[in-house]
Amino acid sequence: MLDIVVLAAGKGTRMKSDLPKVLHPIAGKPMLEHVLNSARQLGEADTKIHLVTGHCASLVEAAFSAPDVDFVVQTEQLGTGHAVQQTMPYLRQGSMVLILAGDVPLISAATLKTLLTCVGPESMGLLTVSLEDATGYGRIVRTETGEAVAIVEHKDASPEQHEISEINTGIMAANAADLLQWLPQLSCDNAQGEYYLTDIIALAVAGGKRVITATAANEMEVLGVNNRLQQAQLERFYQQAQAERLMQAGVTLLDPARFDNRGELSVGNDVEIDINCVFSGRVEIGNNVKVGPNCVISESRIGDNTIIKANSILEEAVIAESCDIGPFARLRPGSQLANKAKVGNFVETKKALIGEGSKVNHLTYIGDAEIGIGVNVGAGTITCNYDGVNKSKTTIGDGAFIGSNSSLVAPVNIGAGATVGAGSTIGSDVADDELGVARAKQRNIKGWKRPVKK
Ligand code: UD1
Ligand code: CA
Repeated sequence: MLDIVVLAAGKGTRMKSDLPKVLHPIAGKPMLEHVLNSARQLGEADTKIHLVTGHCASLVEAAFSAPDVDFVVQTEQLGTGHAVQQTMPYLRQGSMVLILAGDVPLISAATLKTLLTCVGPESMGLLTVSLEDATGYGRIVRTETGEAVAIVEHKDASPEQHEISEINTGIMAANAADLLQWLPQLSCDNAQGEYYLTDIIALAVAGGKRVITATAANEMEVLGVNNRLQQAQLERFYQQAQAERLMQAGVTLLDPARFDNRGELSVGNDVEIDINCVFSGRVEIGNNVKVGPNCVISESRIGDNTIIKANSILEEAVIAESCDIGPFARLRPGSQLANKAKVGNFVETKKALIGEGSKVNHLTYIGDAEIGIGVNVGAGTITCNYDGVNKSKTTIGDGAFIGSNSSLVAPVNIGAGATVGAGSTIGSDVADDELGVARAKQRNIKGWKRPVKK
């Protein structure tokens, strides 16, 4: 049985923001979501999450309401100890309690598992780390034999204690029964006049328990975000870790420092990603795919051997194998390309099926359309899918040829093998293999003179 207490009531004054701190994102997701994800990965049977909210509680609750989460409101923020005190009525006898901070987003489930092993009938667990610059953090006070016996907050520490580099991460674990004994004994007799959770360390030792410390695999896991500078640092760390994972998986990143994944990205072999690409949501990339610089790709699947050239944007698109996209293509939700389809520069597609080997190469809008196999759509073609009220569909059969600068006024069908003359406005169907042409007849005027300047 595991009770996970997550502290998220603070305002985050140093963020200088109207948004509560824990809702500020790392990699596109609120910090608190990262914390809850790690908590859920622990996979302990019968886990309950108690989320302590306070500042902008309703915003935090709206964002994180879930069957395994209970919200506990701390109306006045009187310190971390006071925050955990609010959860006392909900902690279950016989359970283990893990305390996490909502502003320490990169904590991993693996590190938390190690911490939980420190808790025993006669001990509690504390996650610490040694920092080169420990300014602002609570310091771990140890005896000569190395036993952790107290935490002293930076503001309460003596000059000698300021030299201690081992700090409190704010993450700890203990038996509920012990915690329920210690919490009521906290006082606010300290430099900040707050109820410090950190005082339970000394209370544990006074009660004859040992404080066993665990350390994080990586320092970044336990860094807190108090301002935007630290937020940016953690973002870069997170992205660097993503980049490393992908390179280990066989991806070539032209510059791992200029790569951003804000979702779940899976890749095949020999994928090459140029600089400044941003991925979000679920993106699946097949083998031997090349993504040019400055592409923004979200919620999409990209088949083997496809090339996406510079500055292309894909959103909820499904791309089959050996397609050729961009530069400057914009594939909006519902775009589907069959094998070997081409969508070129300044082409926008939406809810559009582009058949095998078909080409839409220049300056075109294809929306609410179904294009067959081997179709050529000339430059500047527009599917006029919207009459100001309703959307209508355009279908183009296999092997059709649409001349440049045509408007296809939906609903309309262009038959297989049909041709549309360049510059036509097509409002009625063109049958298979016919030519549809709809434009004013050209006149050439003999002897015509250009106007002259008066
Ligand atoms: C705390 C620790 C410090 C540790 C540091 C690690 C205490 C007294 N100090 O300091 O030893 O080194 O974290 O990052 O615990 N919160 C509430 N209610 C409150 C006060 C805070 O929910 O009344 C929440 C905050 O929203 C935040 C977390 O608790 O998520 C930590 O609070 P914060 O004020 O940032 O503590 P630190 O000063 O960083
Ligand atoms: Ca903090």
